[in-house]
Amino acid sequence: MRFGKRCSTEPRARDAPLFGVDHVADSPERFLADSGRVFARFDERTQDSGNVSYGVEIGGRRCFVKTAGRADTASFHDHADRVRLLRNAVHLAQSCEHRTLPKLRQVVESPRGPMLVYDWVDGELARSALNRVRALPASQVSRLLSDIYDLHVQLVGEGWVAVDFYDGAMIYDFDRRRVHAVDLDCYQRGRFTNTMGRMFGSTRFMAPEEFELGATIDERTTVFTLGRTAAELLSDGSLDRQPFGGSEAQHRVMIQSCRAHPDDRFQTVAEMNAAWLAAG
Ligand SMILES: Nc1ncnc2c1ncn2[C@@H]1O[C@H](COP(=O)(O)OP(=O)(O)O)[C@@H](O)[C@H]1O
Ligand SMILES: [Mg+2]
Repeated sequence: MRFGKRCSTEPRARDAPLFGVDHVADSPERFLADSGRVFARFDERTQDSGNVSYGVEIGGRRCFVKTAGRADTASFHDHADRVRLLRNAVHLAQSCEHRTLPKLRQVVESPRGPMLVYDWVDGELARSALNRVRALPASQVSRLLSDIYDLHVQLVGEGWVAVDFYDGAMIYDFDRRRVHAVDLDCYQRGRFTNTMGRMFGSTRFMAPEEFELGATIDERTTVFTLGRTAAELLSDGSLDRQPFGGSEAQHRVMIQSCRAHPDDRFQTVAEMNAAWLAAG
């Protein structure tokens, strides 16, 4: 299986699968415990997704292994839905390689559905460390945002529309000053109609059309979410000028991205990103 469109300049060995098999008869827990050292577990104690994920060290390399958890676990998504979303995440990873996306190295099928084996990334969830992010020099947060915008230019270029992106989907490494985006499992390919009313997501990042049954969700919805990301990370969550840490011009980009009506926003993420870079 080939991942990503860009040619990698890194050594081939980096692309080697971590496990020598592509399917197992054991449960993920059993298989992972037999294969390496499980050093982290993300389950119902911290996640409301129903998914169960693991940090596993194998052969001196750390990876993040995401699974749909047990079939009898109740969450908003049933097990079949969770499996579908994980397969969607595989499509997303296959379509896009970016410095902010932890690399998906392998998919191993198990009786509980696929195990997605990603590179482990260091850092803290922007959501839990929000105050620390807000206290960083504006230039650093501005770069973090530019990385996230650049990722979305590429994703939108592959047809992906952001769904459920929020500060819990960004891991920031304060030492290395690097951001990674995770948990993009709900992104959808192509514009679509809101059939839910209030869709999934964190209200702070959601556009008006994500609350409106029958509304169109498209690239302009992604523009809104990215504008809100600046409001959350580079300001106090408001769109006001005073608390905003960036320039006057960056503030104008945020305001135009977060207009209530999609027609009044930047019409593409590429346009928004170009304005952001010119403003920086
Ligand atoms: N590649 C990764 N490296 C290290 N930690 C990760 C990675 N991806 C996710 N995480 C951590 O695992 C948690 C759960 O992953 P996530 O993809 O958000 O699963 P869920 O579908 O349960 O929300 C995240 O909140 C984050 O703290
Ligand atoms: Mg999550």
